[in-house]
Amino acid sequence: MLPRVLLGTARIPDTDKVMHLYQSGDTFSIKIPGRGDLMNSRMHGSEKALAELACERIGDKPEARVLIGGLGMGFTLAAALAALGADAEVVVAELVPEVVTWNRTLIGAPAGHPLADRRAQVYAGDVADLIRREPRGFDAILMDVDNGPEALVRRENDWLYGRAGLESTRAALRPRGVLAVWSATPDRDFGKRLRQAGFDVREHTVRPHQAGKGPRHHVWIAGSNPAAKRGPRSRVER
Ligand SMILES: C[S@@+](CC[C@H](N)C(=O)[O-])C[C@H]1O[C@@H](n2cnc3c(N)ncnc32)[C@H](O)[C@@H]1O
Repeated sequence: MLPRVLLGTARIPDTDKVMHLYQSGDTFSIKIPGRGDLMNSRMHGSEKALAELACERIGDKPEARVLIGGLGMGFTLAAALAALGADAEVVVAELVPEVVTWNRTLIGAPAGHPLADRRAQVYAGDVADLIRREPRGFDAILMDVDNGPEALVRRENDWLYGRAGLESTRAALRPRGVLAVWSATPDRDFGKRLRQAGFDVREHTVRPHQAGKGPRHHVWIAGSNPAAKRGPRSRVER
């Protein structure tokens, strides 16, 4: 077995918790002690799918503006940049400043250094700040800050998945905008909360590995204009 080397440690703002960055061979992982992997560079198919499913919905809209909650190892950011046009802007909010530094210096290669793309902007702080601050600001909002729609990194993240946070997120979307949320596990109640906040909802199951292998992960794609397109109340697509 390859030795695991600790490359860095960062405090999570507003908590007494830390994050560790490890390397084992050519694999990087970010872990929160006692909570396991937050992100691992070996499994990233579903983080990529989060961006692809959302960007497919906004199509080739000119000057598309996308917000990503959570840089992690940059796979969702890289996939969004690959799917969007030359005139797009992608703002990635990252709570832990060291994660941004690690992406620039140590762990950028697996995702292809997406922060070097001139269309990518970093906001070093809470994604909720931008959601509250920019009504009608984004064509798509992609959320992967915890391991699903429940606070893991910090307690305050629960606001994002409750009624008030979802209504603010809907208000931060432009007409025909889309919210996409990643999760390691299913959550029936979350689909219900999305609909109560006024979204039309489709739930996708996606795999972490290209060959369709690994555990099933979940992505909710929630449209902000439900009246414009009536369809099934919720659909699980496999
Ligand atoms: C699971 S990782 C994201 C993985 C990413 N999708 C990728 O492709 O590598 C979650 C990231 O969200 C960040 N985060 C957690 N809470 C946040 C918040 N409220 N605002 C912004 N970033 C947050 C964490 O520090 C971590 O870097």
